[in-house]
Amino acid sequence: RIKRGRVWNENMSSKDLAMRLQKVRSHFQKINKYNVSYQGTFGQKLSPQSILCQLRDRVNMSTIERSELPPEASYWSDYLPIESFQKKVGRLGRCAVVSSAGSMKFSKLGEEIDSHDAVIRFNAAPTSGFEEDVGTKTTFRLLNSQLVSESNLRFLEDPMYRTGILLMWDPSQYKADLRQWHLNPDYKFYDRFVKYRRMNPEQPFYILNPQSSWQLWDVIQENSSEKIQPDPPSSGLLGIVLLMNLCDQVNVYEFVPSKRRTDQCHYYHRFFDQACTMGAYHPLMYEKNLIKKLNQGDDNTIYYSGKVTLPGLNGLQC
Ligand code: C5P
Repeated sequence: RIKRGRVWNENMSSKDLAMRLQKVRSHFQKINKYNVSYQGTFGQKLSPQSILCQLRDRVNMSTIERSELPPEASYWSDYLPIESFQKKVGRLGRCAVVSSAGSMKFSKLGEEIDSHDAVIRFNAAPTSGFEEDVGTKTTFRLLNSQLVSESNLRFLEDPMYRTGILLMWDPSQYKADLRQWHLNPDYKFYDRFVKYRRMNPEQPFYILNPQSSWQLWDVIQENSSEKIQPDPPSSGLLGIVLLMNLCDQVNVYEFVPSKRRTDQCHYYHRFFDQACTMGAYHPLMYEKNLIKKLNQGDDNTIYYSGKVTLPGLNGLQC
């Protein structure tokens, strides 16, 4: 039996946050870095099925193709893979999303994670030394553009990044087109992207279309009862929705936290901050509310495994 209040409450709002995180949320709303001007509704109380249909019909989770960028971008866009991401990957069966949360530690979920047809990990999350808890398989690794751009983060040097299909995302201004984004990316990733591609030409390395992030943001906002942070969704949610587009079923580990919930930010670092689980810059609490609503498994499974089961979007009847 699970005690009341021990599993993520999908109706949480900013008043449930620690005062410091409430202030951080207001701060990001005030600076509105990406010039978000949302015109739609919010506080929609849609059925899980309707939310899934919104994710399928309104979020085009695509990677950028060379031909979509202006000629001025060719010095880096010429290094995008020729073969499309969809074609490269095809359709997958059971997929696993491994969040980087501290609650992955001591989970012993490694074997279960490895039993999936494909596994996605994020940013600097290692498998080496943590196999029992997070598994060994890495099919995809989704990176933020900061990790690619800042030399102290060792993206070019660390061999961890050389397994699996790499994907990177970088935020544009709200609803900017690709030409505008190319002129004003969040991080200047071009040089190091080119360098990595020249060093590892055989490894597929795609870039997510920044418009996908804002389409997803709109769906989170529409289904939240109050104004969310005007910043792009976390890498974790991008990975979840990406896999929902590729796989028949997606199991997500420790995005919605289990009984092992902790303020330890990542399973691989001794750094503690509630913001990593509840959100500061990213609208992470609202992302988790949404994913909890879509869970096809039960609360017991969340409580013990931190596991949420989501359907693929291809098989949906909308
Ligand atoms: O911190 P980082 O973005 O690399 O972590 C990968 C993803 O794991 C996050 O984007 C977030 O979705 C998820 N995460 C979480 N709770 C944490 C740490 C990470 O939900 N404590």
